Amino acid sequence: MPETATLQVQGKTYTLPIVIGTENEVAVDISKLRAESGVITLDDGYGNTGSCRSAITFIDGEKGILRYRGIPIERIAEHSTFPEAAWLLIYGELPTAEQLECWSDLLSRHEMLHEGLYKHYDGFPSQSHPMAILSAMINAASCYTPEIIKMESPETFQSAAARLLSKTRTIAAAAYKASIGQPLVYPKPHLDYCANFLHMMFSIPFRDYEPDPEIVDALQLILVLHADHEQNCSTSTVRMVASSGANLFASCAAGVCALWGPLHGGANAAVIEMLQYIHESGMSVKDYVAKVKDKTSHIKLMGFGHRVYKNYDPRARIIKQAADRVLNKLQINDPMLDLARALEEAALSDSYFQEKKLYPNVDFYSGIIMRAIGIPLEMFTVMFAIGRMPGWIANWKEVWEGQTRIYRPRQVYTGPALREYVSIGQRRLVPIPGLSGEVAVSGACR
Ligand code: ACO
Repeated sequence: MPETATLQVQGKTYTLPIVIGTENEVAVDISKLRAESGVITLDDGYGNTGSCRSAITFIDGEKGILRYRGIPIERIAEHSTFPEAAWLLIYGELPTAEQLECWSDLLSRHEMLHEGLYKHYDGFPSQSHPMAILSAMINAASCYTPEIIKMESPETFQSAAARLLSKTRTIAAAAYKASIGQPLVYPKPHLDYCANFLHMMFSIPFRDYEPDPEIVDALQLILVLHADHEQNCSTSTVRMVASSGANLFASCAAGVCALWGPLHGGANAAVIEMLQYIHESGMSVKDYVAKVKDKTSHIKLMGFGHRVYKNYDPRARIIKQAADRVLNKLQINDPMLDLARALEEAALSDSYFQEKKLYPNVDFYSGIIMRAIGIPLEMFTVMFAIGRMPGWIANWKEVWEGQTRIYRPRQVYTGPALREYVSIGQRRLVPIPGLSGEVAVSGACR
């Protein structure tokens, strides 16, 4: 394998270094190309751009492989609790029994919110989206421990990471309680991470929620499977924000905002909305698939397709099996599961999906399990955020420890060339695309 690549641009030849990853992924290092040639590379949506070197998660999208720190997701899903997977992602090795115990204790120690933080919930209208609350409250939480903003040592990092991981679940459960007008429930230190979250979600004063172990396990699985996924939209956002030197809480709050979108973390709720629509409208699976294939409908089959996976998402495979198991054990008969199966079968046998290599992603079946364990639809993306927190923290740490340059992509400018400034009396009205009525006609703003 040659150690350099050559590039010819406008008659000149440039030699570029090659970087090879642990799994023999080959990358052409173009970081000095502009300085040498004045040329940049263009990759809309970063579909083929390695934005960093990272030792956290490996994905082979063609083969459907996902590994956290080298360990296959299937093994982690089978054996790890969420705190253990979080430790693995953040510190690179599976924890010893003592480390895990200390880590779990640390998470329990930081599960409470400052009383002042609870008052913030009064300021949000009852219909607020919990992702908005989560992002705002993560930033607000950092105000109560200013030492984490400076982050001067590995000890401070560990304390900040434990706080963030632990408090995120308390903030999320409180956001849900606030949204339904119920009193906020304090965490119970003797409960483990997942049981504690379920307690804060579903207990009410003087009536504790006792979760079925099957439900706790299902939640654990969901969180573990979402814990990291290399340079996706939200993780790249976290790294981008971190690269400016922003603190862990601010960077992860930005990650929450990026995750919110329906093409990313919001897809898990969109899948259930789609299934509900098909169910309630009485539309056949065949007709829905036809609608999705019709580009003029601007509808996508939610929970299908992935930028990296051109094969079955390994997480979707695990979740699909778990959905069957959990619904059976809890004796739930959810028509959405049957519908999802039928939709998957129809899509996988359709040439449109086969040719474009569109397979179910993690979101296709995760909503079915979340419904089964009683998580309301508006909390689905929040669950994803809780799960993804270890990955964001691990990526933030990698930037904090190693990255010295601020992330700053280039662009190809396509706007107007140099032109004169026109004084206000001389300007002509240029209609704003998509706006009509007075704004377009008289320029008045409403
Ligand atoms: N339904 C129908 N057609 C699809 C779908 C889909 N779900 N996904 C992709 N396509 C089509 C595209 O329209 C495109 O068609 P074209 O080549 O004729 O223009 C082709 O497949 C390639 O798709 P891209 O748009 O290039 O895929 P991209 O990598 O940009 O997007 C994404 C990936 C956002 C996940 C996309 O597949 C999608 O919108 N899926 C539905 C939403 C979803 O499930 N998101 C969750 C992603 S996983 C996660 O964030 C946890």
